Amino acid sequence: MSRRCAASTGAGGVTISPTAWFSEPERIRLGDGVHVNGGCILWAGPSTGSIIVGENALFGPNVMVTAASYRFNDGQPVTDQDMEEHDVLIGRDVWLGSGVTVLAGSEIGDGCVVGAGSVVRGRFPPFSIIAGAPARVVGQRRPPWPQKLADLKVIEDSPEPRVAPDERSTG
Ligand SMILES: CC(C)(COP(=O)(O)OP(=O)(O)OC[C@H]1O[C@@H](n2cnc3c(N)ncnc32)[C@H](O)[C@@H]1OP(=O)(O)O)[C@@H](O)C(=O)NCCC(=O)NCCS
Repeated sequence: MSRRCAASTGAGGVTISPTAWFSEPERIRLGDGVHVNGGCILWAGPSTGSIIVGENALFGPNVMVTAASYRFNDGQPVTDQDMEEHDVLIGRDVWLGSGVTVLAGSEIGDGCVVGAGSVVRGRFPPFSIIAGAPARVVGQRRPPWPQKLADLKVIEDSPEPRVAPDERSTG
């Protein structure tokens, strides 16, 4: 199912451009304060693949996020083949620049900045500045001031996903 602007959102403060498009919105969760600019496409998987976005994330214009990808080696036309689905996690206070593509299975840690036109695949630690296709770490963002650290709970190293795990388990 595809429709505009019907993702599950938090308590409030989410702004979504009327030209943004959500596919499988029942598997998309946006935290409070998320801003989705014009032309963005959030494409969750048809069966399982979810897109989880932390609080105050900012999507520049024409960002594409997909939690699904067609298989292509099963000896049939691509569109007759199954899809592989993997959750996408986008952390709190992440800024995705204009025209970014985020591929299935990616995890972008809290506080990351993603350069315009980047293609993101893989896991990136909190407060990274990443850019390019494929996106690589090109810098580090200064972590937030001390009184915000406790709120964000992302500074300590952890093998677990650091992006809105509470949302993921209830999503
Ligand atoms: C990612 C960004 C914030 C980085 O800004 P910055 O910290 O000043 O980084 P720099 O310009 O010093 O670039 C650092 C390196 O990353 C590279 N880089 C930066 N942005 C890039 C991009 N979008 N794609 C590819 N590489 C990029 C630079 O070429 C540079 O590489 P080098 O060290 O080999 O020369 C900025 O380049 C950007 O893309 N901003 C998004 C703007 C936008 O989309 N605005 C509208 C949306 S609201």
